[in-house]
Amino acid sequence: MPIHPPEPFRIKMVEPIRLLPREERRRRLEEAGYNLFRLRAEDVYIDLLTDSGTGAMSDRQWAAMMQGDESYAGARSFYRFQETIQEITGYPYVVPVHQGRAAEHLFFAVAVRPGQKVPSNNHFDTTRANLLARPAEPVDLVIEEAYDPTLEHPFKGNMDPAKLEAFFEQVGPENIPFVMLTLTNNTVGGQPVSMENVRAVAAIARRYGKGLYLDVARYAENVYFIRMREPGYAGRPLREIARELFGYADGCLMSAKKDGLANIGGFIALKDRDLYEALCAQLVLREGFPTYGGLAGRDLEAIAIGLQEALDEAYLAYRVGQVSYLAESLRQAGIPIVVPPGGHAVYLDARRFLPHIPQKEYPGHALAVHLYLEGGIRGVEIGSVMLAQEDPRTSEMIYPRLELVRLAIPRRVYTQSHLDYVVEVCARVYARRERIRGFRIVEAPRLLRHFLARFEPLGELDEAA
Ligand code: F0G
Repeated sequence: MPIHPPEPFRIKMVEPIRLLPREERRRRLEEAGYNLFRLRAEDVYIDLLTDSGTGAMSDRQWAAMMQGDESYAGARSFYRFQETIQEITGYPYVVPVHQGRAAEHLFFAVAVRPGQKVPSNNHFDTTRANLLARPAEPVDLVIEEAYDPTLEHPFKGNMDPAKLEAFFEQVGPENIPFVMLTLTNNTVGGQPVSMENVRAVAAIARRYGKGLYLDVARYAENVYFIRMREPGYAGRPLREIARELFGYADGCLMSAKKDGLANIGGFIALKDRDLYEALCAQLVLREGFPTYGGLAGRDLEAIAIGLQEALDEAYLAYRVGQVSYLAESLRQAGIPIVVPPGGHAVYLDARRFLPHIPQKEYPGHALAVHLYLEGGIRGVEIGSVMLAQEDPRTSEMIYPRLELVRLAIPRRVYTQSHLDYVVEVCARVYARRERIRGFRIVEAPRLLRHFLARFEPLGELDEAA
């Protein structure tokens, strides 16, 4: 198998995209308050904002959608969905939900007592927010290597087992409802977790009488990395590796908008019947009856097929290969990125890209704005706009350790020539980097400000043009 295999599909339906002229792009930016979330998607040429819900479905998925059973209770589509998940995970109980964060909300409402602390390698934003809302405390125990963007490590998403042990001793098991792991670890770059790490974490949790629950939004990509990189897994069937992975845990939460290859949907799957019954009681209140959980029957069909296609050999080789192709091409062009690349995105290192812009002038944001200005590309800043926090005691700003721009690759949507174009645009921005200025925030809400803030460039935006 080549390292970057061609797309294992041909295209039978297309959606036109267009590149606005530069002057138009400059105007759209100004109208949007220089916030890429405020752009209209049709004004974006290559949209790398997220890989969530933005993938293309297969002909088999569309065909299955026509067979969606929309019955309120006991729909045939639910049983297909349930059987697929049971077969992949080995868990007997399956709760459908409308997306990942609904799974988080339900699960924490049932399984976390207010004031408890929940350790993970890294909690994703919505997981963190749903714990805080309980209120409970999310705690990240990822290995230190994850915070060095230049360090190569095969499983940079791992939890540090020594940190977990120390955490149990310090906090006391009575204050910890369970342990979580996010596969792949989105927060530090879509980095995989090794099977050995899952095993070690599960053993520690068990020793303290606690369960392990997995956030499996991108587990198929994680499984592929295990087979590629972990001793003892080369040549093993992907489904067998997945089964082993799920077997060490007590249950999982999934946003099917990623490795479910669907535009909407999610689920909770687990071993424990009592917990399942408690979740169903909440589900009826919040999402819907246990055989549809906030989804249409056709969505359940699309997910059932999508979950199978996401574990396909040729698909995963292409998927992981495409991300590594983009990363290698950027690296060859001299552009600083986080290494190694993860499974769903390439992260530009804005700190090294724009070293002359201090964090208080938002270098990641400036880079993201200039990618749109230069070539109509939309990425997302994961840096001081999204993550800086005011110290409640001193009112000083605390800036994040990393200043990144994520280029997330939607599944089965863009071809290699789209990616070549992305590299070309990044290189053009890199060539004129010294003339790029920072930004100032004009107005912003207090919480999750990156979605709605308005900005102003410090100096002429487009003097290079
Ligand atoms: N867990 C992980 C690891 C995620 O990356 C996401 C979403 C969720 C849970 C929540 O799922 O969106 O279906 O409610 N990540 C998207 C992203 C939004 O762009 O990384 P959801």
